[in-house]
Amino acid sequence: MVGVDIGGTGCKAALVDLLNGELASERQRIDTPHPATPDAVAQTVVRLLDVLGGADVIGLTVPAVVRGGVVRSAANIDPEWIGTDAVSLFSEALSTSCTVLNDADAAGIAEMRFGAGSGRNGVVVVVTLGTGIGTAVFTDGVLVPNTELGHIELKGMDAEQYAASSVRDREDLSWKRWGHRVGRYMALLEKLLSPELIIVGGGVSKKFDRYSDHMLEKTSGETEIVPAQSLNQAGIVGAAIAASRIPSTATS
Ligand code: BGC
Repeated sequence: MVGVDIGGTGCKAALVDLLNGELASERQRIDTPHPATPDAVAQTVVRLLDVLGGADVIGLTVPAVVRGGVVRSAANIDPEWIGTDAVSLFSEALSTSCTVLNDADAAGIAEMRFGAGSGRNGVVVVVTLGTGIGTAVFTDGVLVPNTELGHIELKGMDAEQYAASSVRDREDLSWKRWGHRVGRYMALLEKLLSPELIIVGGGVSKKFDRYSDHMLEKTSGETEIVPAQSLNQAGIVGAAIAASRIPSTATS
């Protein structure tokens, strides 16, 4: 099983062991082409699969809404993706049938199966903080796909323009200031969804200690908020799980 995670800066792929959610090969990475048009990205994915020695079952993530295999949004990718049948694009390029899903949904699936959400019921929200903000919402382990809660309004703007990890870099925010912003975002999710658990993923999940106290100053204090466990590889692992059609339920 191969998982491929297509991001704004890099495309990453690896073989995945679905019994334990670990990578079964070295993780391969190629810079995302610019412009990251569907054809250019498909060629990059072909190169990644060549390095891995091919595969029969391939799952891929894109940072966009994917419904019925077709990409429906493009907040952080080339607008040419909108309306692209990504399943056909990748299946033709790789000569095998592919599964394509939203990147945060994939990361969430991996966290629910093998990470911080394993065995957790009720409403669980996985939030990925990166270039944008991605969300995956689960109820009793079942995914509600394409929730896109990174685009809810916060402080009069698109939440991801206010609290994504890239905003911390771009505006050179201290961990404290950025932690407060993330906390305000989490507080909004609490109000909207009353989740049992929020799992914070994305590259910054490994630096959770630097901002978690600041973040918690702005939340209700009633919701458990924890860092993701599978860190950078959640997208790859979740894509492979989705492609294998193993249900991502928390309890099964
Ligand atoms: C996109 C989402 C994506 C998230 C994280 C957002 O801008 O709209 O589809 O999951 O970024 O990459």
